[in-house]
Formats: sequence, structure tokens, C-alpha cells
Amino acid sequence: MVHGGAWDIPDDMVKQHKKGVQDAITAGWTMLSRGGTSVDAVTETIRILENDDTFDAGRGSFVNMVGDIELDASIMDGGTLTAGAVAAVQNIKNPILLARAIMEKSEHVMLTGIGATRFAREHGVKTCGHDDLITDRELARWREYQSRKKVSAKEIFRKKKMPSDTVGAIAMDKFGNVASGTSAGGTPNKHPGRVGDSPIIGCGTYADNEGGAVATTGWGEALMKVVMAKTVYDLMEKHGDPDKAIQEALSILEKKTGGYGGVVALTSEGKIGFGYNTPRMARGYMTSEMKNPIVDV
Ligand code: GLY
Repeated sequence: MVHGGAWDIPDDMVKQHKKGVQDAITAGWTMLSRGGTSVDAVTETIRILENDDTFDAGRGSFVNMVGDIELDASIMDGGTLTAGAVAAVQNIKNPILLARAIMEKSEHVMLTGIGATRFAREHGVKTCGHDDLITDRELARWREYQSRKKVSAKEIFRKKKMPSDTVGAIAMDKFGNVASGTSAGGTPNKHPGRVGDSPIIGCGTYADNEGGAVATTGWGEALMKVVMAKTVYDLMEKHGDPDKAIQEALSILEKKTGGYGGVVALTSEGKIGFGYNTPRMARGYMTSEMKNPIVDV
């Protein structure tokens, strides 16, 4: 199951969001159907979304206040509760690959900034130039933000307008192991060093074979305050129903923080659910009973 951001996605961007989600699910599903693990499927799905300019992850990410691109990502293996994450990392083409390398090749969970880039070089994760991540669309958005009076993310998110194209994926493999991952470029014109919910285990990402897997999207500052992914996970264990758990967590989010976002989730029995309190959320899923993925925005 995949999400490609929850926000007021304009009509003229719907088609490319659907295509991006469809391509990513197809890649992840191919991985699973060839006997790959849920961690492999989540990694591959997110790698494809990061390479797609449509989304605020990898290439196409929002530009920060000083013109840099700083990326966040995390991955969690529900079979072992091992996790890896990167925050505010620069010059990394696919932050999800670095998060996975940290999960598998270090004794840490999260690396940030230049230390994370150094780890990438040490472990053969591809680095890239700033220009390889930036797109004309985001350069134009950045120039517009720079030229106008500062409007806080809080104000924009209250109107549900802030672009929030974070990507995420959850999967269950044939062994019954679940995994979750999330990747984001954060918010437009953010302060350098700003870290959102996406790399924080329990906020953007959570997976445990006992209860299932969750990935979130939306306004990170609000999602972090209610530990969104773990809140959904706990409610899913309580209700046994992902849709109900997501709706309850979204009400908590809105009531306590005025926040907006979306969630995809699956239980350890393989029940899937999604929900959002924004006008739209790009999402899709595929199960072993289906011939083709279902994708919607
Ligand atoms: N949900 C992504 C972020 O706020 O950074």
C-alpha cells in the first residue's frame, strides 16, 4: 500500500500522482511476487517515488529557505523492530536507500546532515549534486516564497493548502512480515535543519508484526505532536480495524493540534485501511486477490 501525499492536490496534477503511485506499487508488487521481503518491497516502492519529480521526496523535493534541499526518510522492519532513518540529509539521490543501509549496517537508528552523507559514502549509497534533486517547478515555488511576506506553515496548513507530497509505503510479505517506510523533502521554504515526522519512528513510520504497519503524510509539526503512526498502530491493536483506527487518530490530530494529514495502514491479519482529513490523498494498494492495483487521488 502506498501514499503519495495528502493535501489539496490540484486537478491538473491528479493524473501524474495516479501514475506515480501506480508505477511504485507495480515495482513493489513485482518485488513481493518474486519472493522479496516486505522490507525489499517498501524500499523499492519508495525508491521509485523518490525518482518521480511529482512528489516531495528525492528529486522534486521542496527547497529550503536558503536554497538547499534537505531530505528525511525512514524504514522499519516489523519482524525485528529494527529501523533506519536519515534527517536533513543533503546530496542523496535516494534517502530511503540510506535509511535502509543505516538499519542494516550500523548500530544506530538515525543519522543526520553531514554525518549521514559521510555514512552514504562509506557504504556505497549514491550521492548526487544539488542540481540533480532540484526541479524548475520547485525553483519557481521557492522564488515565489522568497518574494512574498512570510506566511507560516501553520497558517497555510489551516487552510489545507500546503503542498505535502511526502511518500510512504507499507507491505506484508509471504512470510507474514510487515514493513513501513516514508520519505519527504519537508515543507516549502523550511528553515535549514528542519526535520519533519517522516524520519521519526512512531511519527511517520511504524511497523511491528504483532499489530501491523503504518505510514503517514501531512503537516509534520502536527503529526509529531500526536506521535501519529504509533497512535494509529495502538488504535488498530485496540479496534482490529485500520479504517476505524485511522479515523480516530485523525480526529485526535485535528482536535489537539489543528493538524492535517493522511495515513495508510495494515493489520497483522492483512486488513488494509486509509484515511485523510485533507481534500485529497494520492494512494493505492494491491493484494494477492487482485490482478491490478487500485489507485486513487
Ligand atoms: N510529512 C512531511 C513533513 O512534514 O516533513
